[in-house]
Amino acid sequence: MLLSFSFPLLIFHLLRTTSRRKLHLPPGNLGLPFLGETLQLISAYKTENPEPFIDDRVSKYGTVFTTHVFGEPTVFSADPDTNRFILQNEGRLFESSYPGSISNLLGRHSLLLMRGSLHKRMHSLTMSFANSCIIRDHLLVDIDRLVRLNMEAWTGRVLLMEEAKKITFQLTVKQLMSFDPCEWTENLMKEYMLVIEGFFTIPLPIFSTTYRRAIQARGKVAEALGLVVRERRRESEKGERKNDMLAALLDEEGDGGGGFSDEEIVDFMVALLVAGYETTSTIMTLAVKFLTENPCALAELKEEHAEIRARKGEAETLQWDDYKSMSFTQCVVNETLRVANIISGVFRRAMRDVSIKGYTIPKGWQVFASLRAVHMDHNHFKDARTFNPWRWQANSGSSSSSSSSSSSVINVFTPFGGGPRRCPGAELARVELLVFLHHMVTRFSWVPAEQDKLVFFPTTRTQKRYPIIVERRDDS
Ligand code: HEM
Ligand SMILES: *[C@@H]1O[C@H](CO)[C@@H](O)[C@H](O)[C@H]1NC(C)=O
Repeated sequence: MLLSFSFPLLIFHLLRTTSRRKLHLPPGNLGLPFLGETLQLISAYKTENPEPFIDDRVSKYGTVFTTHVFGEPTVFSADPDTNRFILQNEGRLFESSYPGSISNLLGRHSLLLMRGSLHKRMHSLTMSFANSCIIRDHLLVDIDRLVRLNMEAWTGRVLLMEEAKKITFQLTVKQLMSFDPCEWTENLMKEYMLVIEGFFTIPLPIFSTTYRRAIQARGKVAEALGLVVRERRRESEKGERKNDMLAALLDEEGDGGGGFSDEEIVDFMVALLVAGYETTSTIMTLAVKFLTENPCALAELKEEHAEIRARKGEAETLQWDDYKSMSFTQCVVNETLRVANIISGVFRRAMRDVSIKGYTIPKGWQVFASLRAVHMDHNHFKDARTFNPWRWQANSGSSSSSSSSSSSVINVFTPFGGGPRRCPGAELARVELLVFLHHMVTRFSWVPAEQDKLVFFPTTRTQKRYPIIVERRDDS
């Protein structure tokens, strides 16, 4: 109801302003009234092959076109230069923009919703807790330990996606506030998973019980985290200090110079949990799925990790040097990020009329920079729709002959976005993935327990959470 009332007004308003200023919009089709092309988009993304939605429009209109998705007319970019322009001009010409239902779940003070100078400060604070030095000197040990700990419990049939989620959740909690897995973290994770479900009830959140449950669960998560924050404040007044993200937040001067409020800190922590959890665990699962379907790649990966294990004792933890020596695994990770496209693109809003490629994006319009469209484009990646980790070898090697073509590959490969909002967890996610794959292939062999299908809506995931039958390698 709400939707059908507001859209005609919106469209009327847009048509009026557009014609008055004689703007030259990118070509395209706004689709049905009210719904636009959202239904086509959703039904395409519910299949294993969503590409035709973009392909059809790119072949008709070119790589920048107008459509109407998720409630608004939208300029859709499948063009790497336009995407870069959009991402780099964050805060000047474009700003990030999320639907209200998502903002409610994230919390008002979440990094994902922050803008301007506060965003800049908090972004770099996050970076300072997930950069290479911190990972090397502090986080790597925890990652190694928590991955092992979880895998020790695996026997027989395992839902890989669930296990990967457990691992990434525990890692984030450890990184944020130094908690090891316990009953408290288990309970937090249960509530938290209800919050996450709420994110994917996009079309009509107001009427959905899932969404209401998510809002309630968010309250409980915030309450639990709030207790921790208060406790830690008391400790830090007594001069005790832990070395984690929460400590850094408590040290930080707030906007008014008086430090952050508990609410601000809680929102910040919820946002970090959200940003790092579903993404990394899905990539872990899909890397294993793609490897299972590509025995040659799996064999090469196993060899790389067997060599690393051969240099070390059975129980010795991975070191930074080991991480650096996983060159084929890096290729597998890049290729998984490229093909899976966990974040298929980012939404922005034009802050003023913006000219691009001879078109105008009117002020206030929604813009979608599709990372997926570029990663799946045959003009940028040969046989773009095939999983081929070896394609990355050319540019990790020293051969300079292919340097021009390979540097262009890097320019169009943006799984972590770009500009001022580029993912601050990118390096951390990579390390988590490498450590996970290391222990997976050195400890287990596995077969899929049943057929499972990849879908892309509401998020990229496999339908059955990827069940596999594992067998411990040292048992055999
Ligand atoms: C494979 C795993 C991951 C992928 C593919 C990924 C991808 C992305 C992308 C594309 C963005 C940009 C969103 C935008 O421009 O609107 C982003 C932002 C962000 N990511 Fe990640 N991410 C991953 C893992 C992580 C992890 C482990 C963390 C935890 C530290 C994290 C924290 C964040 C945060 C806080 C932002 C918001 C940055 C901002 O708005 O300034 N991400 N991520
Ligand atoms: C993987 O992609 C990143 C860009 O995200 C690039 O810097 C790196 O060189 C790539 N790795 C390999 C092995 O090609």
